[in-house]
Amino acid sequence: MQQILITGGAGYIGSHTAVALVNAGYEPIIVDNFSNSNKEVLNGLEKILGAPVKYHEGDCNDRKFMQAVFEENDLQGVIHFAASKAVGESTKIPLTYYSNNINSLIILLETMKQFGVKDIVFSSSCTVYGQPDKLPVKETTPRKDAESPYGNTKKICEDILTDHVKSGAPARVVALRYFNPIGAHPSSLIGELPLGVPANLIPFVTQTGAGIREKITVFGDDYNTPDGTCIRDYIHVMDLADAHVKSIQYLADQPENFIDLFNVGTGNGNTVMEVIKAFEKVSEKPLNYEIGPRRSGDIEKVWANTDKVSKVLGWTPQFGLEEALRDAWNWQLSLKK
Ligand SMILES: NC(=O)c1ccc[n+]([C@@H]2O[C@H](COP(=O)([O-])OP(=O)(O)OC[C@H]3O[C@@H](n4cnc5c(N)ncnc54)[C@H](O)[C@@H]3O)[C@@H](O)[C@H]2O)c1
Repeated sequence: MQQILITGGAGYIGSHTAVALVNAGYEPIIVDNFSNSNKEVLNGLEKILGAPVKYHEGDCNDRKFMQAVFEENDLQGVIHFAASKAVGESTKIPLTYYSNNINSLIILLETMKQFGVKDIVFSSSCTVYGQPDKLPVKETTPRKDAESPYGNTKKICEDILTDHVKSGAPARVVALRYFNPIGAHPSSLIGELPLGVPANLIPFVTQTGAGIREKITVFGDDYNTPDGTCIRDYIHVMDLADAHVKSIQYLADQPENFIDLFNVGTGNGNTVMEVIKAFEKVSEKPLNYEIGPRRSGDIEKVWANTDKVSKVLGWTPQFGLEEALRDAWNWQLSLKK
């Protein structure tokens, strides 16, 4: 079995990708410092997979630790999820974000080079597009100035990867620009586990549905959208996980010194109100929400053009919004037990 290192593999997207990798015949090797995740995730993974998952506890910024991980395993490739990811927090502690997200990538690339590991899939984000002038947004759409230090780290990391390949390094790189991952594994054994107050819409919705939060505030209903609320492209996390497996398989067929990037979304946008209505349908209960003022820094609308990812990687999403919300809700209910 080929071993794939998953940095940040105990996190939300990484843990679901570990499942997808095993299902595709790979052995995931997790590295995580548990700064934004819980070791319980490993129990959930073990139950889904019926076997323990190998993990190394440590920091991707610790070169010696990373070298020891590469020494101990026979890695075919890496999926680099580990990063700090809260947009709002990044405006308060930008240096922490630049340090964690950029240093970890540089140390990883250097370690990969040292050990002759070529393939890397990088977690980028649709945040690099800002508010696109034309929708749906294509990979060729020029990136805009980042709205936050977090967004800027994703732009800089994409540039680092491009320059690394341009320099002649024998690397093979795919950067995936995720749109809005939601949902959970259908078993409800793993899912999104935000520490503290959720910064994303769906955990806030499900926590409000479960009575953990009193109500949810919709930030603005006077945008230029059909019902005035912001539009995003919500993608089921299992579909997103599958895009990583397809990327690893794709890289294996590429020449050395290669980089490509893909949007990973559904190609459909939904307003916040549509999400709330869909959640009410799935959970069969009304959601306590109120309309508040706009939140600064929010993009009005964005959704993906997915022609390239479907044509080149042969990837298409299998789940719709209601299925993703159903799985997110079942996960929330399982947490209450
Ligand atoms: N969730 C989203 O909405 C979204 C959207 C676009 C891009 N992304 C990117 O996808 C990746 C994964 O996101 P996620 O939602 O699974 O986040 P997450 O916080 O759930 O997972 C990240 C994991 O990385 C770990 N980590 C962070 N810094 C580390 C370090 N220095 N060393 C070792 N482990 C470290 C955390 O403990 C956590 O388990 C991130 O790079 C994020 O920026 C996420």
